Amino acid sequence: MKTHDINSHIRCLHADIHTNDLFEGIWPIPRGVSLNAFVARGDKTALIDFVRDWEGAVSRLDAQLEAAGLRCQDVDYLILNHLEPDHTGALAEFRRRNPHAQILATAKGIKLIPSFYTIDDDGLRAVRDGEALDLGQGVVLRFFETPNLHWPETMVTFEEASGTLFSCDAFGSFGALGDRVFDDEFSGAEHAFFEGECLRYYANIVSSFSLFVEKAIVKLQGAVPAPGIRCVAPSHGIVWRKRPEAIIERYARYAAYARSGGEPEVCVVWGSMYGNTKAGLDAVIKGIAAAGVPYRLHRVPDEDLSYILADGYRARGLVMAMPTYEYAMFPPMAWALDLFKRKHITGKKALRIGSWGWVGGAQRDYEAAIAGLRWESAPAIEWAGQADSATLAALEAAGKALAQGLRVGTGP
Ligand SMILES: Cc1cc2nc3c(=O)[nH]c(=O)nc-3n(C[C@H](O)[C@H](O)[C@H](O)COP(=O)(O)O)c2cc1C
Ligand SMILES: [Fe+2]
Ligand SMILES: [Fe+2]
Repeated sequence: MKTHDINSHIRCLHADIHTNDLFEGIWPIPRGVSLNAFVARGDKTALIDFVRDWEGAVSRLDAQLEAAGLRCQDVDYLILNHLEPDHTGALAEFRRRNPHAQILATAKGIKLIPSFYTIDDDGLRAVRDGEALDLGQGVVLRFFETPNLHWPETMVTFEEASGTLFSCDAFGSFGALGDRVFDDEFSGAEHAFFEGECLRYYANIVSSFSLFVEKAIVKLQGAVPAPGIRCVAPSHGIVWRKRPEAIIERYARYAAYARSGGEPEVCVVWGSMYGNTKAGLDAVIKGIAAAGVPYRLHRVPDEDLSYILADGYRARGLVMAMPTYEYAMFPPMAWALDLFKRKHITGKKALRIGSWGWVGGAQRDYEAAIAGLRWESAPAIEWAGQADSATLAALEAAGKALAQGLRVGTGP
């Protein structure tokens, strides 16, 4: 079995999950996800983050512990950076097999444990922001609270000698890793794949907390001793030992999209029953293409919202195209916009278009749905039934104007 040593004291364990289950019960993971945990060994042994028993993850961790000459019973400290069940689901089983380990989390984390798990509270210990745990042999773990990354109780753990940041959900990604975990072990094409999965993970799971991502990055850069973070070890996805700054910069860029609106490209979300809205949209797309701005099309309800959210989060320009349906928006678009709102897809330049039959209603419903998202809306274009040539010309001009407007930067 291949082992993944960060140094002679710290090892990454991981379980790739390949499943038809949805992550968090919502998000598809057709290319899998990894659950990473880490062992830090001095005179004492700490296990940092854990797993739930999903697709045999616990027995796979056991096998990797065994390869390191360890058993579950040998763990002196179990460090729970975050209480979400993907990292703690098998906690009661851990406690049954190891009654003596201290279980460490923030005070808020310790309070959550009895809500999720029936275990004795002996051996549960709250750690303070900045507190250190010396494992001996120069291995010192320090804990920093990073609230709302992803739950209110979240912290990260920093190992000082190696400069390793165990960041749990932060800096994570979807995508199974296979038999490699480190950034320098993947090709450019593989990194491109993981970058897509990282954006989707961010947009699906982290985007609501962008402000806290920015706060955590600033806090950690000030708090960790020189020479700073030399390895970023999240509990989902690649471990960044060669270019830790690459993933930190990527997350900082994603977090800033909440203010800047994102990249100068267009995400087109559309739905149409009989093709009238689609015919108008084709004219908009002609205008966007003429401006030479990249765009991607997503049809609702055909495409999973997980992917639409990722693209909608990244693109500063949005075209939302849908007809009126029962005096309101075409329903799948209402679901998409509801998710855009919940996930704080803010600061966009948007154009809404669509066909109606006798009285409309989609536009009013749309305006209510996007209230509070700080979108700069171009005048909407609606028409009855088929678009006539004047409407098609207006649609094409509106597509071009939207795209050209993205070129004029609206940086953070
Ligand atoms: C189930 C259904 C409900 C509709 N409800 C409304 C409505 O409440 N108000 C309206 O003006 N048109 C309504 N229409 C008409 C459509 O908005 C119109 O046919 C439009 O051209 C459809 O655009 P599409 O071809 O892009 O699907 C409805 C059509 C259908 C099939
Ligand atoms: Fe989480
Ligand atoms: Fe997680």
